[in-house]
Amino acid sequence: MSMAQTLSGRVAIVTGGARGIGLAIVEELHRRGASVVIADSGVSIAGADPDPAVAATIAAKLGASALAFSEDLTIAGAAERAVQAAASAFGAIDIVVNNAAILRDSFIFKASRENWDQVIATNLTVPFALLAAATPLMREQQKSGRAPGRIVNIVSSAGLFGNFGQSAYASAKAGLVGLTRVVAMDMSRSKVTCNAIAPFAATRVTESIQPANDAQASYKQRALRIPAHYVARLATFLGSNIHELTGQLFGVRGRELLLFSQPRPVARMLMSAGSDWDEEALARTINAELGSGLTDLATDLEFFNTEPIV
Ligand SMILES: NC(=O)c1ccc[n+]([C@@H]2O[C@H](COP(=O)([O-])OP(=O)(O)OC[C@H]3O[C@@H](n4cnc5c(N)ncnc54)[C@H](O)[C@@H]3O)[C@@H](O)[C@H]2O)c1
Repeated sequence: MSMAQTLSGRVAIVTGGARGIGLAIVEELHRRGASVVIADSGVSIAGADPDPAVAATIAAKLGASALAFSEDLTIAGAAERAVQAAASAFGAIDIVVNNAAILRDSFIFKASRENWDQVIATNLTVPFALLAAATPLMREQQKSGRAPGRIVNIVSSAGLFGNFGQSAYASAKAGLVGLTRVVAMDMSRSKVTCNAIAPFAATRVTESIQPANDAQASYKQRALRIPAHYVARLATFLGSNIHELTGQLFGVRGRELLLFSQPRPVARMLMSAGSDWDEEALARTINAELGSGLTDLATDLEFFNTEPIV
């Protein structure tokens, strides 16, 4: 078997697979022989102006082993229909890549409920709905002897560090990290793995960054030099059966492959016994016992503002 066909016979769904990082993942999965459902409604960065031609054009270019599914995935039932489309076109569902996301930034003191709801729906509820629809099939397939399925969730360093104005986006992405852990656990008996990738790559989203200061301007220039195919390489690897890694949180920034720690207690102290307590005393012990473990307010843009290696 040639290297290029290591995913021959496998069936993938990639949400947001018609543009940017999702498209790079679709192309790499397809190059390795997988059949791919490109689930992409062709919306703007903020989730407006759907265009079914976006996914259809990519599917037509890839040929018979690709299928466009251009419904808005936030609509009730759409995720289920995407799974049915994969199963009826290609006979199975082996790889799910939750990549579609939108951005509607505003400071918390100016934020609207409508934008919050739409970002949470797209970036967190759609992955849940797709996994709730796909995992029963993945379990059945594994029981009947098919190689176990693979799930890859595309998260963001913004969900780990936080970033100005990204309350909804960062909350959804942090939620997707939690979903990754639970799905890894729930599917472990079926040997289906579930991992997350925080990507860095030049896409229309990177291009749209409006630098608020010199540091952000240099971040943007650096980010624009990072091709998406390195993210696709890790997503394709995690979509394969050559590994059994699960519940892990990776990052890909050009050729740098990062493994993130996951929050665990870094310091521990005991408070005084009983119901009597004194604020000054607690402040002193927190400072002494936990002080060196506190996390600063650096954003992800600041933390990753170094020269990319490409
Ligand atoms: N570009 C980066 O450096 C970067 C950094 C951190 C995280 N990410 C994450 O990587 C992923 C891909 O980002 P990108 O920069 O390629 O974005 P992009 O906007 O270029 O592509 C996202 C795709 O998702 C599709 N989509 C959005 N809502 C949809 C819906 N309701 N139904 C169906 N399709 C829908 C869009 O049509 C679009 O084609 C996202 O999850 C994003 O949060 C990207």
